[in-house]
Amino acid sequence: MTIDRNAPCWCGSGKKYKKCHLSLDEKIKTYELKGYEVPPREIIKNEADIAGMKKAAVVNNGALDLVGEKICAGMSTEEINQLVHNYTIEHGGIPAPLNYEGYPKSVCVSINNVVCHGIPSEDTILKEGDIVNVDVTTIVDGYFADASRMYMIGKVSEEAERLVRVAKECMEKGIQAIKPWGFLGDIGAAVQEHAEKNGYSIVIDLGGHGIGKIFHEEPFVPHVGVRGEGMLLVPGMTLTVEPMVNAGGYEVYIDEEDDWTVYTEDGSLSAQWEHTLLITETGVEIIAH
Ligand code: MF3
Ligand code: CO
Ligand code: CO
Repeated sequence: MTIDRNAPCWCGSGKKYKKCHLSLDEKIKTYELKGYEVPPREIIKNEADIAGMKKAAVVNNGALDLVGEKICAGMSTEEINQLVHNYTIEHGGIPAPLNYEGYPKSVCVSINNVVCHGIPSEDTILKEGDIVNVDVTTIVDGYFADASRMYMIGKVSEEAERLVRVAKECMEKGIQAIKPWGFLGDIGAAVQEHAEKNGYSIVIDLGGHGIGKIFHEEPFVPHVGVRGEGMLLVPGMTLTVEPMVNAGGYEVYIDEEDDWTVYTEDGSLSAQWEHTLLITETGVEIIAH
């Protein structure tokens, strides 16, 4: 697929192709010819896309900050849902989880042995010692931002605190492994290494994802892997790193009743942090945290 050098760029920037994505395309082509897996054009963002995602991220970050101010023992997870829902709407956003593939609430709240996708409920009350993941995704003007944080309720056990800390470090190591013209496998390798060094395991059934005008787009981002393998990482790609780190085994199962809640198979604690990231020409930029 060749485009006239003077024709408008395929990315929609309005610039001439030769002044926009031509040299990037040529570089990608050299990798493709050598047999590497390369990203499709649809997932390469232009300046307007990036600005849109950053706008969504401002609201998303604000919602997570608010949760941090309010979360406490005695609160129901439904109260967190309302907090996030109302904040998002008041700031011009749409909570992406609501009705996403039938998901019934505006946020995911996952406590202790719940790995992810915990559904808020009036009957689920936070208690001292719990470790809680709150995963917020916001749409503003059609663009998505997705991030999650761990919150510790009152005083938690040393083991739980260590898990929360190491899980965050796992995400950070994964992010630091991102280099333009590196590979997707670099991320998973760094995450997995750090988890296993600390005696923990990484969930493999779920992973991070490309994100933009679509909640979950290519590529799937594994949190285990081999350096130098997987899709080529190219400037303009936006994706999440969101490792789920289990204190015990990596195996998980989905609640048969609600079809959403993911638990550790062995009942061990699980922790997760998530950022939305942009791959730049020089490195990586955190979009949502
Ligand atoms: N926010 C989750 C993620 O990080 C996805 C939640 S899907 C939902 O990808 F439907 F459960 F909200
Ligand atoms: Co995500
Ligand atoms: Co998320």
